Amino acid sequence: MSKLNSTWQCPSNIAIVKYWGKKGFQLPSNPSVSFTLSQCNTTTTVKAYEHPGRRKPESQVYKEGEFHEAFTQRVTTYLEELAATIRWLKDFDFEIETSNNFPHGAGIASSASAFGALALCLTTMEWELNPPSSMNEDLFFRRASSLARIGSGSAARSVYGGWTVWGKTSALPESSDKYAIKLADYQIHDVFKKLQDTIIVVSDHTKNVSSSAGHALMYGHAYAPRRFVRAAENTRSLIEILTLGDWPAFARLCESEALDLHALMMTSNPPFLLLKPETIFWIEKIKEATVHHHLPITYTLDAGPNIHLIYPEAETTNVRKWLEEHKKYTVSTQFIYDHLGTGPQKIL
Ligand code: PMV
Repeated sequence: MSKLNSTWQCPSNIAIVKYWGKKGFQLPSNPSVSFTLSQCNTTTTVKAYEHPGRRKPESQVYKEGEFHEAFTQRVTTYLEELAATIRWLKDFDFEIETSNNFPHGAGIASSASAFGALALCLTTMEWELNPPSSMNEDLFFRRASSLARIGSGSAARSVYGGWTVWGKTSALPESSDKYAIKLADYQIHDVFKKLQDTIIVVSDHTKNVSSSAGHALMYGHAYAPRRFVRAAENTRSLIEILTLGDWPAFARLCESEALDLHALMMTSNPPFLLLKPETIFWIEKIKEATVHHHLPITYTLDAGPNIHLIYPEAETTNVRKWLEEHKKYTVSTQFIYDHLGTGPQKIL
């Protein structure tokens, strides 16, 4: 009876060019670009017990020590999808223990770090069972990224540190819809190497529209064809901006992508609105700070009302002072200070 065991810690990520809309089997309708965070992590341990002769894999998921029914269902479906092509999974029962170090509903994609960590554990086990002819690190993370993608598209980008691109783009011949790739150090100007992301938690309520439902609303969306072209253009532009270190161009693109995402939600059928009055308050204050006080800050939004305030590391003191000054005008007082990180860590 073989028993496999693996533990990984994986961070979440924040997309600057957004993935919104799918095609085929969990492939993106457009390329996306993100940077991986540092402080917001999921840690997952997978124990796999051999149980030959099963038709499909079984799993039990524990979150912070407690059995979690909804996660068990989602992970079981995920493992079944993978097992259609990855035969060894059928011969094992999986016991999974997972924990997040960031609050649920804080505007940080927990599915990205969760499926990133799980896919890294599964890839470790796969390589232990069937060692590939060459133990190449790039191949390992590429494989993990392609497995993570099946669970949650944005998770494909979380298996690397720094800046990553998921989806085919003419700017990078090695890019793919099936897995994300990491941008090399020389492709990133110093100003974008230590970016800060302070999450202004406007609301910590769970959003009432899941991202799967949101992606599905892009089928037949009146603006979808134009959106996919624009996202592909923005991907090419952002890759160039990251190399050149052009902050004003970065800020323009970042804000435009955030608003595009929410504009697509507001114009879908049925439409939905995730922004809150305080989201608009902060957007206006950020604009004011950039125009009148020349603070080099910008923002992006995920699928929710919380603001991701993005700025270079050198501005940290000024930005924190600015945030404290404006806090009194709002009811949102929770800030989560994160920054670009170096990627997942193998614990066991
Ligand atoms: O990975 P999913 O299926 O939860 O979709 C994520 C979509 C956004 O977070 C809104 C954008 C992105 O690219 O991360």
